[in-house]
Amino acid sequence: MNASHDTRLPIGVFDSGVGGLTVLRALRQALPQEDLIYLGDTARLPYGTKSRSSISRYAGQATAQLQDRGIKLLVVACNTASAVALDALKEQVKPLPVIGVVEPGATAAVATRPGGRHLVLATEATVRYGAYREAILRRDKLAEVRELACELMVSLAEEGWTAGSIAEAIIRRYLEPLADMDFEPHSIILGCTHFPLLRPAIERVVSEGTAIVDSASTTASVAAALLAEDGLLNAQQGPGRLQLMATDGASRFARVGGRFIGEDLDASDIELVDL
Ligand code: DGL
Repeated sequence: MNASHDTRLPIGVFDSGVGGLTVLRALRQALPQEDLIYLGDTARLPYGTKSRSSISRYAGQATAQLQDRGIKLLVVACNTASAVALDALKEQVKPLPVIGVVEPGATAAVATRPGGRHLVLATEATVRYGAYREAILRRDKLAEVRELACELMVSLAEEGWTAGSIAEAIIRRYLEPLADMDFEPHSIILGCTHFPLLRPAIERVVSEGTAIVDSASTTASVAAALLAEDGLLNAQQGPGRLQLMATDGASRFARVGGRFIGEDLDASDIELVDL
């Protein structure tokens, strides 16, 4: 167990790949003075099609790697790992605080409209475990929730094919079952950390006025509030340091990850680790 009361320790963030960098970006905006250490388990991406036991094992190993480096807060920047393994991860690192992305995402969705119709776009595993449905209905009993697994959208985001006719055709195809369900959503929840990159394409396909909910900024607000409450905010002057790790493919991580984080990344700055 690390000394989690050391305010100078970084915030640890992990995802199955580069998608969690959308959450990291929001954390940097909300908490610019904090050091951050990010791990993308690129060797084993995607998590979303795997079994509960594999996802739990992978998430546990990624968590252990970050905890070994010394962190004061763990942010599980992967909806799939948050949906499947959050309680086990909390148990693993106790008393280190842990935040997942599903609960903040549900808070943001419910805030868009009381008793609203919410559509969750996510991975197969996130849909299978119904974590968003449960989290939304716990906050708003009158809400209606539908969930669609959209695996190919993870690949689109990883490949950088986030705009144009191919992306829009794939999104349209995934949304087709809505017509049969007779379900016109008030909000669409980007229930996978890869999907914020596809937001403009999603907005072009859905009806005008549909709220698009991204859990990244809500997760960052929850992290900021938690650090303040626990007296864990880093008082250093100037911007925090960023350390990036991946389990495979430093060049690809830098190339694709740069789009997610919104700045150029250099492959030589990505540390390769074996879990
Ligand atoms: N980033 C993951 C999530 O938020 C999706 C990618 C994967 O399937 O590993 O669920």
